[in-house]
Amino acid sequence: MTEPAISSSSDISTSEPARRGFLYKAFTIVIGAVVGITPALAGIVFFFDPLRKRKAAGGFLKVGRLDSVPQDGTPVRFTVIVERRQDAWTTYLNEPIGGVYVRRDGEEIVAFNTTCPHLGCAVDYLPGRGQYLCPCHDSAFAIDGKRTNKTPPRDMDRLEVDTDKLKAGEVWVKYQDFKTGEEHPVPKV
Ligand code: FES
Repeated sequence: MTEPAISSSSDISTSEPARRGFLYKAFTIVIGAVVGITPALAGIVFFFDPLRKRKAAGGFLKVGRLDSVPQDGTPVRFTVIVERRQDAWTTYLNEPIGGVYVRRDGEEIVAFNTTCPHLGCAVDYLPGRGQYLCPCHDSAFAIDGKRTNKTPPRDMDRLEVDTDKLKAGEVWVKYQDFKTGEEHPVPKV
């Protein structure tokens, strides 16, 4: 007949440190996983950022009403606002992300990014001179966005306008930022 196993005091004293060691390792693994997964989650949130998705999908943003654009071809500046943007754990609502100049060119509605293609300052429109001027290093552009001096590396960046929305009296622009200092427009990602 087999005798029941009885733990001796020396068995207990050796199993207790082993149990503590196991718990310590488990705790370390859990903490390591939490620390490791946080940046990964932030990356996932960034990837699914609505603004990023909208740009990646080539979506249009409403910038204003068509009746706000003067008939005489004078450009009007609209602020581009994104309704909702998620940055890691923070949600931004109605956040300005840039600006556009919109004007009538005959029957056509044209839009330009207000960012100077030289080094990224905001370009002003000077009604008295009928041209755009950047206050930072004097890049100058004609009313149609073409550069008129050699400071900027290219013309102002033209943006696509949704012609279907124009019929409904709204101006929707495919907003995009471009790299500065490049001879040709290179979209920022
Ligand atoms: S940033 Fe506009 S001229 Fe330099």
